[in-house]
This record gives sequence, C-alpha cells and structure tokens, in this order.
Amino acid sequence: MKICMISLGCDKNLVDSEMMLGFLHRGDVSFTGQVEEADTVIVNTCCFILDAKKESIRTVLDMAERKKKKQIRALIVAGCLAQRYRDEILNEIPEVDAVVGTSDYDAIGKVLKKVEKGERTAACSTDRLPRMSRKRTFSSAGYFGYLKIAEGCDKHCTYCIIPSLRGKYRSYPMEDLVRQASAMVSSGVKELILVAQETTVYGTDLYGKKSLPALLKKLCRIKDLEWIRILYCYPEEITEELIQTIRKEKKVCRYLDIPVQHASDAILKRMGRRTTEKELEEIIGRIREVIPEMAIRTTLISGFPGETEKDHRILKSFVRRMKFDHLGVFPYSREEGTPAALFPDQVPQKIKKLRRADIMAIQQKISAAKMKKLKGKVLEVMVEGKLPRENVYTGRTYRDAPEVDGNVFFPAEGTLLSGSIVKVKITGSSEYDLTGEIV
Ligand code: F3S
Repeated sequence: MKICMISLGCDKNLVDSEMMLGFLHRGDVSFTGQVEEADTVIVNTCCFILDAKKESIRTVLDMAERKKKKQIRALIVAGCLAQRYRDEILNEIPEVDAVVGTSDYDAIGKVLKKVEKGERTAACSTDRLPRMSRKRTFSSAGYFGYLKIAEGCDKHCTYCIIPSLRGKYRSYPMEDLVRQASAMVSSGVKELILVAQETTVYGTDLYGKKSLPALLKKLCRIKDLEWIRILYCYPEEITEELIQTIRKEKKVCRYLDIPVQHASDAILKRMGRRTTEKELEEIIGRIREVIPEMAIRTTLISGFPGETEKDHRILKSFVRRMKFDHLGVFPYSREEGTPAALFPDQVPQKIKKLRRADIMAIQQKISAAKMKKLKGKVLEVMVEGKLPRENVYTGRTYRDAPEVDGNVFFPAEGTLLSGSIVKVKITGSSEYDLTGEIV
C-alpha cells in the first residue's frame, strides 16, 4: 500500500498528520508525497475560516474524483472538517471510505485495516487526548519541528469554532513531551516550536498550575537543541514566571506570538476576550521592560460584528503605539456554529478588507523602521537553505518564526548545513527581510 497524506490547515494539524504517518508504519506500507503515485489518500482537513473550508472540500472532492476513476483505492478524510461534518461527508461523498476526527488520529491504523476489509467507518470522539506516535514522520524541513504540547481550548472566543471541534484543553504529560522532543532533536531538529491552541495555560489540567516555565526548563536541557520558540500565547495568561524564564534560559528565543485580535474594549468584550486595551498595553510593556529585544508577533481581526469607525481608529492607534515586530490581520470570517455569526451589525466584506489594508499599511512602516534599526548589528542566524542563484543563503534570526516571518539573505562560500547557526552582520533591510554578511 502506498499512502499520500495531504495536510491542510495549521501547524497543529501538521503535527497530527505526522503522527498519523507514524501510526501507519507497517511492513507493507510506504509513503509518497505525490498523489499520482498513491493508492490510498488521507486528506487532513481544516475548517477554521470559510476559505480554509473551501480548500478542504475542494481537495476531498478532487480525491473523490480520482477514486471514481479508480486512480486510487481508498480515501480517508481526517481533521477538523471531518470532526465537524462527519455525517455530511459520509452521506454526501460515497467515495470517502472513512472519517477520522481530531481526537482519534491515533486510531488511523485500525481505521485503515477496516477500510482494507471493505468496511466504511468513522472514528470521531470528542475530548480524547490521542496518543503520540514514537515513529512520527516529519514533513517539515527537518531542522525545525513543531511540538504540540496540548490539545483543545477552553477559551470560547465568540468568533472561533475550534473549541467545539478540538474539545476542552488537555495537556500532554511533561515526560512524554520531553521524550518526543529528544527524539526530534536526535533526528536533526535544532529548533523546537511549541504549539497548542494556547500554550500559556499548559499543565493547568494536569498539574493544577501553569507549567510552561517548568516544561521550558526541562526542554532546555536537551543536548544539541539550539532554539525553542513559543507560539500562541494568550496575553492574560502570560505570567512574570514565564517572562523571567524566557529571560534566563538562553535556548528560549526572545520571541512571543501573542494574538490580541483587537484593542477596542467594546470589541474585545464582544469577542469574549478577557483583556482590555489597558491590560494589553501593560502586558506588552512589562515584557519589553524585562526583555527589550523581545520580538512580538500578533494577529488581529478586522471588521468584527459591531466594529465602528471609532473602534477601528482605536485599533490603528494601538498598532502605532505598540509597534509590533510582526503582525497579521484577517478580515472577520462569519463561521456558522459560533456566537458571533449571529451577532447583529455584521460589517460588509469591502469594509473589512479596507480596514485590514489600513492596518497593514501602518504596520509596513513600523516593520521597515524596525528592520532598519538592525543595520550594523551582528545576529545569530539559523541557516535554512541556499537560493538557486549564486552563493546566497537564506536563514532566520530569533526574531523570525519559519513560514510566517521574514528571512535573512547572505552570501557564503562553501557549504552551510541547514539548521547550523552562523553570525551575520546586517547590512541592509526591506519591510520584512534582511541582508547581511557572515562575520
Ligand atoms: Fe488548525 Fe484549521 Fe483545525 S486552523 S485547528 S486545522 S480548523
């Protein structure tokens, strides 16, 4: 059997895909990245916003078409769309052989066996914490890897469907995570990226207190691991202990991803967020006071229901004052099944997009000015690869997460291995990227 995994959606979903591949290791199974070579296809889907849902449905239908034409023998739909629309998928797409939800990806081996016997099946429970596979198969670049430290979310922001898909917050035990991380490092990972729907409350369910600092300290002891990066921090859950741990532990990047979503108190309240503009300013101010070089990424939503011109002005002024290092804005997406979808005063799509562009224009200038200030500095850069032209390499500093942030470009003679760290003197900058030379 030759299996192709198509992984859509976020980095948490990517981890699930890699785990599934790990659970599928059998003597008679091989894997391919090419659909054309596969006889069995698993689509690990996303349905966070409308566009993601459309992409997932399109991919499943394309694969169903392949099955109709007998180009593949089996089609399994996994992930968030499967969790949410199990019955619809099974009833309306007869070519789908099985559906596997987000709490059951560790059952993929059993599911496949049933499919081989010609059974149509579904594994879609809620609130289970799937086991980790010891044979996880990495599809990312190899020198960085995502460590999912928890599943689910208890926050229930009014725009978000994820808690109803992925269930309540469940942390993985620390010893399992350290074992998984050590195995990742042994296989060549140099940068560990901690992910979860929310990383800052890690451990509250298992240990009765926020345990991210304790986990970081343990992970820092892993030999040959260079960097640890933390994504998805809820602002109100960032503690002094966490800030101090980042300050003291050299392997933890001075980088935090803190999605704040908005700054107007009225909108924050409607979003079901637990912070006010003042509190957000205080948290960000405190982080920068303790660690001035901290790079902070955030995400915002433009055009949330009820957002007025005044709310938008508040958000713009906040962005100007906070001077985030990285910022993404998403026009609000009305998701069925969420409270916000039923809110009155939905904002027209055109306005959402205009407001998004407005904020991005402000951020572009902030980002360009920040990058300019790095000129002349010598920064550690993790090598990512070589460009096809000349002897130019690309890499990232601690300030940049893979796939979402910027890059550093620098010439170098000889061969530099991906994942190695070099010192680069910054000589030039654009809005998002840097250029430099090795020192
Ligand atoms: Fe991720 Fe999409 Fe699911 S963003 S958690 S794959 S809905």
